Amino acid sequence: MPKPPKPLEKIIPLFTAPKGMPDILPEDQDYWREIQEVVKEEAQNFNFKKIDTPILEDIGLFQRGTGEATDIVEKEMFELVTKGGQKLALRPEFTPGIIRAYLENGLYTQPLPIKLYSFGPIFRYAQPQAGRFRQFHQFDFEIIGDEAPILDAQLISLVWQILKKLKLKGLNIQINTIGCQECRPDYEKLLRDYYHRNLSKLCSDCRRRLRKNPLRLLDCKEDKCRLLANNAPQIVDHLCGECHDHFKSVLEFLDELALPYILNPSLARGLDYYTKTVFEIWPEQEIERQSSLGGGGRYDLLVKLLGGRPTPAVGFAGGVERIISLMKTQKLEVAKQSVPKVYLAQLGELAKKESLKLFEELRGAKIAVAENLSKNSLKSQLKLANKLGVKISLILGQKEALEKTIIIRDMSTGVQEVTDIKKVIGEVKKRLKR
Ligand code: HAM
Repeated sequence: MPKPPKPLEKIIPLFTAPKGMPDILPEDQDYWREIQEVVKEEAQNFNFKKIDTPILEDIGLFQRGTGEATDIVEKEMFELVTKGGQKLALRPEFTPGIIRAYLENGLYTQPLPIKLYSFGPIFRYAQPQAGRFRQFHQFDFEIIGDEAPILDAQLISLVWQILKKLKLKGLNIQINTIGCQECRPDYEKLLRDYYHRNLSKLCSDCRRRLRKNPLRLLDCKEDKCRLLANNAPQIVDHLCGECHDHFKSVLEFLDELALPYILNPSLARGLDYYTKTVFEIWPEQEIERQSSLGGGGRYDLLVKLLGGRPTPAVGFAGGVERIISLMKTQKLEVAKQSVPKVYLAQLGELAKKESLKLFEELRGAKIAVAENLSKNSLKSQLKLANKLGVKISLILGQKEALEKTIIIRDMSTGVQEVTDIKKVIGEVKKRLKR
C-alpha cells in the first residue's frame, strides 16, 4: 500500500474554487450560525415569513426588474443557456425573484402588507477585491403591499436590531430619498445640465451613465466624481409634496426610535427600481471606501413592472461576508458549536461492535460524544480525549465487553469506576449535570 502523505506536506490541488467564490471553512461556521440565528429570531419578532426562491431565474426577470441601466445587469450577471435554449441567470440579488414568487403564487391574495425574508447565495461577476466576491450571501427582507412611511422606519429598525444583537459597533445609517416618477424627471434634468457643464471632470463610466441614469453619478466612488457630487443640486430641494411628506415622516419615525441616521444627499443606490427612501448601513471606519454592510429602500413600481397590480414595497439586504469580516475586525465573540463533553474509547473487536451500539444510544439520549472508532490504540484515543478537553471518557475493552460493563474515567481527576453498561447513560447524565 502506498504511504499516505506526511501531514504537513503541502499539496498542490488539481482544481481550485472559481475566482471570487471562497469556501466557508469549519472554523468560520460559528459566525455563520450566529448570523443565521439572529436573522431568524428577529424576522420572527417582526412577523416576517421565510421564502426560498430558486438560485437560477429567467434572465429577463433581472433585466426588467433590477434594470438594464444597472452595473449588475450590464456586466455582472452569470448567464447560462439551458439545453432547451432558455436563458437563465444566477440571481444577482433576491428582490426580483421574491416579487416573481409573490405574483406567481398569488401571495397578493393574503392580507397585505406581506412580510417575507430569505437567506442564501448571490452571484455577481465583478472583479473580486476586499469585501467583494463573485459568490456572496445576503439576508433579505421585503415588505410588500403598503406605502406607509412607518414601514420604512420599521424595516430600518429591524436591520439595526440584527446588527446590535451581533454586537457590532461604530455603524451608521445613511439615508436619502430619490423621489418618484412625478418629481424625479425634473430633478434628473437639472442634474444632467449640471454634469454636462462639468463633463470634462467626469470619469469615463459616469460620462457613459449620464444619459441613461444621472442619479448614479452621485454615488460614483471616483474621487473627482465625488467632488462634483458634493456641489450637485440636491433632490431634497426638488421633491413633490408627497415625496417630501413621506421622507419627513420616515425621519420622524427614526427620531422616535432614536436611530442614528445621517442624511446623505449623494446616496442614490445602484439598482433601477427604487423610489422615495433609500438607505445603507456603513461602518464608520469604512466611510471612505463606502463598503456598505447592507442597503435597501422603497420600490413602489417594481411589482407592476413585473406584471402585478400597482403595489408599493420596501426592502433591504445585508451582506453576510462583510458583516463577518467586521465582526472579526471588532474581535466579537460568537457562541461556539456545542463541543462534546464525553469521549468513547474502545479496544478490541468485540468492544468496537459494542461501541457502535453505545454511540447510537448516547446520541439518542442527546449526549454529544466524540469518538475515533477506527483507532485501535487506547493510548492514542485517550490522548485525543485529553486534547478535546472532554469531562468524561468511557472506556470499553475486551473484558468489559464480555462482562457487559464499562469504565467511566473522570478526565480532571483521572479516577476510574466500572459500571454496568445498561446504567451508563444515567450515570453520564448525572455526572454532566454536576
Ligand atoms: P445591494 O446594495 O446591491 O442591494 O446589496 C446589499 C448588500 O450585499 C451590500 O450592501 C453588501 O453588503 C452586499 N454585497 C453586494 N455586492 C457584494 C459583493 N460583490 N461581495 C460581497 N458582498 C456584496 C440589493 O441587493 C437589494 N436587492 C437590496 C434590497 C432588497 N432592496 C430592496 N429590497
